[in-house]
Amino acid sequence: MHPSSRLLLLLLFACTATATYVWPSPYDFLEDAYTVSGGFGDGGIVDEVNPCSSSPIGGRKPGRQAAAEWVRAAYHDSATFDVNTGLGGLDASIGFETNRPQNIGSAMNDSLVFFGAFQSKTSSMADVIALSAILAIKSCGGPSIPFRAGRIDAESAGPETVPEPQQDLSSHIASFESQGFNVTEMIGLVTCGHTLGGVHAVDFPLTVPQTAITESNPDGVVHFDDSFDSFDNHIATQWVAGTSVDPLAVGFNTTTNSDARIFAADKNETMQAFAADPDFFQVQCGLLFERMLNSVPSTVQLSDVIEPLPVKPFELTLTLGTDGHLTLGGYIRIFGTSDEAKAAIPANMPVTLSWKDAHGNTNATYSTELVAVSQSSTSLWGSVHFFEINTIAIHPSVFLPNNGGLGFPLQSVVLFQPDGSCTANLGNGIPGNTTALALIRNDLGSVTTPYVDYTYNVNQPGSIAVKQVTTRTEMQRVSGSVSPLYDTYSATFAKGPMTDEGRITFDIAAVVGGNTFISPNNPEIFTQC
Ligand code: HEM
Ligand SMILES: *[C@@H]1O[C@H](CO)[C@@H](O)[C@H](O)[C@H]1NC(C)=O
Ligand SMILES: *[C@@H]1O[C@H](CO)[C@@H](O)[C@H](O)[C@H]1NC(C)=O
Ligand SMILES: *[C@@H]1O[C@H](CO)[C@@H](O)[C@H](O)[C@H]1NC(C)=O
Ligand SMILES: *[C@@H]1O[C@H](CO)[C@@H](O)[C@H](O)[C@H]1NC(C)=O
Ligand SMILES: *[C@@H]1O[C@H](CO)[C@@H](O)[C@H](O)[C@H]1NC(C)=O
Ligand SMILES: *[C@@H]1O[C@H](CO)[C@@H](O)[C@H](O)[C@H]1NC(C)=O
Repeated sequence: MHPSSRLLLLLLFACTATATYVWPSPYDFLEDAYTVSGGFGDGGIVDEVNPCSSSPIGGRKPGRQAAAEWVRAAYHDSATFDVNTGLGGLDASIGFETNRPQNIGSAMNDSLVFFGAFQSKTSSMADVIALSAILAIKSCGGPSIPFRAGRIDAESAGPETVPEPQQDLSSHIASFESQGFNVTEMIGLVTCGHTLGGVHAVDFPLTVPQTAITESNPDGVVHFDDSFDSFDNHIATQWVAGTSVDPLAVGFNTTTNSDARIFAADKNETMQAFAADPDFFQVQCGLLFERMLNSVPSTVQLSDVIEPLPVKPFELTLTLGTDGHLTLGGYIRIFGTSDEAKAAIPANMPVTLSWKDAHGNTNATYSTELVAVSQSSTSLWGSVHFFEINTIAIHPSVFLPNNGGLGFPLQSVVLFQPDGSCTANLGNGIPGNTTALALIRNDLGSVTTPYVDYTYNVNQPGSIAVKQVTTRTEMQRVSGSVSPLYDTYSATFAKGPMTDEGRITFDIAAVVGGNTFISPNNPEIFTQC
């Protein structure tokens, strides 16, 4: 990247340096969704599994439990993995497999529809399925499972390899073995899964009596243990004590009592260990789920573990105002896990944003105190607070070389220009063509191949999950701008037949003076032309 293109933001307060994850990252959206679970900046996933016992957001009938459904969905998607061929695994192929008896019920489609809102160019449906299971398990009091991203969505169904309760023990041992889990691990994974939720009478009439169906429990859910909404070892303690209520262990139909056969497959050794030690149960479940969620086709390269960054910009915007100054807006997020961080009152936390000038020097005037956002935020992983950048005006000519180092480099050569960017309305709310405007520096060398990559969702036959497509349109220089340093570029394009599911984002890029500059992940253009 051209050195004169960067504005460097320095945050002056104590913070631990992060390992490998560097902002900006393609996984910023997933990191945000992972980190912020409520209040300001909330991505919204956790709201559907908080509390763990129900499904607070729209649609699901009473008695249905989104947290349990997401964990089952993740397992059923992952269970197509074949450790010998390296094919299948967690790849969102579940969307094409919902009509199989193996995947009976509304859980799969309802989950995929909910997940659509978190799917984007940089967050595949398969990544969202994995993330949802991790957040659900944590929200239910379970272990902290490391999250890696980079899964790739399949475009067709996988093999029919999800175990069913009427199968015998040797079939189940064989299924888990081809998914890479031995007998001990099979017992573990089934126990860890069946600590949440239960069996629905409407879908498994040969396993659960129809008398379970009542007005307050229309799907007739019968839970696996006495704490269906707590990720604890009761599934094991009840089994060992002989007080199990698990319909797949002590149900009226011995044929479908697969849990009983599996739990006893090693003479109850694993179940006894789980029952004796709740911490051992949590740790084993964490390790097994991690492997299950990271069972991906061997061609997929997963990212490093994504953990909350201690300091992270959020929704930063750099825009050219009518006075020719660039204005920086947005937020800085502060995350911590220490007791000190938990006790901190955001209004009393001094957060100073400083930036470097033309020559890489700081200046007392290049500094501002940030104001805590009044609405609080929550995280499943620690404490999190947002601080607002009260629009800093900077003359663009001060952007001169800066040699990097610690800080948050801001690219200011290619900027999205929201003012004037718009989507036409063809009437009745039907969107027409979109016009995107960009500002590109004119003093850093020749500008070639400026373009906009617009990424949106289309339906894919056979799955309720949507698929991302990207339309690339070249941009043309249309005029100068209020600043002598920037020219205005424009592109008008049709988005094609799209759904209203999922996130729309777009990138604007150009080669300027031989270097490529990208303004990535801009939000959908809603402004009407
Ligand atoms: C031999 C292996 C397994 C069999 C035969 C089996 C079978 C079943 C059946 C029949 C149900 C009831 C589904 C419904 O009524 O919607 C169920 C629910 C569930 N299963 Fe499994 N399962 C197995 C392994 C696993 C594993 C390994 C996990 C997770 C790691 C898991 C997670 C769940 C969860 C969370 C539910 C509750 C869903 C809800 O309450 O909506 N299962 N399982
Ligand atoms: C399964 O693998 C684990 C971990 O390698 C090991 O501790 C356990 O003994 C194995 N169980 C069986 C039945 O081979
Ligand atoms: C038990 O389940 C099996 C397999 O689903 C089924 O064939 C059988 O009829 C069921 N038995 C009873 C008593 O419902
Ligand atoms: C395993 O535990 C179950 C439930 O407590 C019990 O019925 C069964 O006899 C045990 N099996 C063995 C081999 O210990
Ligand atoms: C700091 O910035 C101010 C205002 O831009 C400028 O007048 C002053 O000369 C700068 N000081 C240094 C040491 O660069
Ligand atoms: C899930 O959605 C797909 C696509 O709309 C549909 O074909 C399928 O029948 C649905 N499955 C269930 C179980 O409702
Ligand atoms: C929309 O843009 C396409 C090119 O992407 C063009 O062919 C079409 O004429 C435009 N439609 C309108 C109504 O401007």
